[in-house]
Amino acid sequence: MSIKKIAVVTAGGDAPGMNAAIRSVVRYAVSKNIETIGVMRGWWGLINEELKPLDRRSVSGIISQGGTVLKTARCPEFRTKEGQARAFNTVKKNKIDGLVAIGGNGTFSAAHSFYKNHKVACIGIPASIDNDINGIEQTIGSDTAINTALYAIDNIRDTATSMERVFVVEVMGRGCGYIALEVAIAAGCEEVIIPERKYNLTSICQDIVEGNLRGKLSWILVVAEGAASAYEIAKKITKITRLETRAIVLGHVQRGGRPTALSRILAARLGEAAVDCLLRGLKDKAVSLKCGRIETVDFKKAITGKKIEVDKSLDLIKTLT
Ligand code: F6P
Repeated sequence: MSIKKIAVVTAGGDAPGMNAAIRSVVRYAVSKNIETIGVMRGWWGLINEELKPLDRRSVSGIISQGGTVLKTARCPEFRTKEGQARAFNTVKKNKIDGLVAIGGNGTFSAAHSFYKNHKVACIGIPASIDNDINGIEQTIGSDTAINTALYAIDNIRDTATSMERVFVVEVMGRGCGYIALEVAIAAGCEEVIIPERKYNLTSICQDIVEGNLRGKLSWILVVAEGAASAYEIAKKITKITRLETRAIVLGHVQRGGRPTALSRILAARLGEAAVDCLLRGLKDKAVSLKCGRIETVDFKKAITGKKIEVDKSLDLIKTLT
């Protein structure tokens, strides 16, 4: 089937660089004489036929903006037969030949199930701050989120050192410790607690007390949201060590902001690759950049959950403390 018209959707949690990906999809499609339609508010837009034609000019100036100009949402309705049937109607009515879905695990699961049920060709572009997609080296937005968290922790370091305190900083990542591990290394943090490995708070507290006796009077522990709550950990540390401990939850600040060069370049390359995949007749797959080369990963594999390599990073944090 020749591809004349495609639709692009951003779904799930937004990630910095989604706009750069939309821009890349639209501009590359235009260069191939393909019409592009934007689907508004995630999968809801396909269910409710909320569409917007996108041309070269409509994506001007968005490369540097966080968030997504198409808006995004979580859409439980798309998991139902009725929701997908309505979405399929929109696809048929508007003569859409293929979809590009920009998002994370949830978005890829939805696209995979839509393909299984209605055979609509869809190519996924991985975009999520969590970097938790199996087979995908790096998702759009994760580098920006790490840099945002890094900026915050560098600031916290100043006050932690000056007031000789212990800080516990909670970062996002859903069930994955990727942001926590990376930022802990980049910010020179003393400890990291992630869902991928059991932690022993008694032994962490022992390290803090022993460190204090050696004259190390400030500590920053990074906690991944999927492993524990910063408030709970801080409370326990205060109780065990008797040291003044503060908790900070960085939260959604990590989701916004200007995408870094790395997030934008990844988005530009993957946008183009996704359209190329549709032109080659591929479907039910995500595009990824591995060691600088474009690859595809089956949605089925991508949605099975990512295992991150934690051992080396944890060793590094210990060695450098
Ligand atoms: O998947 C991105 C993410 O920011 C996770 O890190 C976090 O657990 C979740 O989304 C928060 O979702 P919401 O914005 O719907 O509260």
